[in-house]
Amino acid sequence: MSSDATSASPSTPVHAAPTLVTTLTTARLVVVPLAARHREVCVAAYAASNALWSSYLASAASGEALEVQFNKRLERSVEGWSKGVVAGTEFVFVAVDRATGAFVGDCNLGGLFRGSVWECNIGWRVAADAQGKGLAFEMVRAVVAWGFGPEPAGPNLHRICAAIMPGNDRSIRLAERLGFAFEGTKRELILIGGTWRDHHLYGLINRAWVAR
Ligand SMILES: CC(C)(COP(=O)(O)OP(=O)(O)OC[C@H]1O[C@@H](n2cnc3c(N)ncnc32)[C@H](O)[C@@H]1OP(=O)(O)O)[C@@H](O)C(=O)NCCC(=O)NCCS
Repeated sequence: MSSDATSASPSTPVHAAPTLVTTLTTARLVVVPLAARHREVCVAAYAASNALWSSYLASAASGEALEVQFNKRLERSVEGWSKGVVAGTEFVFVAVDRATGAFVGDCNLGGLFRGSVWECNIGWRVAADAQGKGLAFEMVRAVVAWGFGPEPAGPNLHRICAAIMPGNDRSIRLAERLGFAFEGTKRELILIGGTWRDHHLYGLINRAWVAR
């Protein structure tokens, strides 16, 4: 198998664990599990936005074909949603404009810990033409609310962690507006475009979210 092949067929449907809520509706967005039907709008958005994302995101800086980037994300989505709330899973959401169906952004909760740690790492990005409109905030707020939602509809996380590269000011502003607190810096955490990059860690705790 070649290194960019995916074990899930690109047309494999997403079957979410039956009790999980999977459709999040906000004022301007519908946020749902990434599925094969999103291929066209996603690949077009990647083409328009990859240059902007590549300063901060390893996948966008990878140089891989956009179809391959989509296939890898789709494979993680199919696998994660079918596994449900178990250690190691990843929930991949895509946000589309409610009126037009256009890709707005995506947001994932990955690396789920279960046991004495109930945490996920969150990732987010919005298309170049969707920035500066509060749409990232709207998308991420919906996913965070879902992540902290009680079982069986949500994963009932205790903590959500975001790793943000120093200088990624828009992401830092977004995290702080959502209530994430700075918790420290991991040195040389992520390989982006051939360079190991330090990342600031931001954390949000379920109790603080509910009380905000
Ligand atoms: C990080 C990222 C998602 C932030 O997107 P964003 O559009 O700036 O974020 P928000 O949705 O919070 O929008 C905030 C901006 O919209 C403006 N805005 C306009 N209308 C608004 C509305 N109705 N509601 C709220 N904000 C609104 C705000 O004033 C703010 O503008 P400012 O940044 O100039 O002050 C985006 O820059 C991105 O995709 N970056 C590349 C990928 C990346 O870095 N991912 C994270 C890796 S850790």
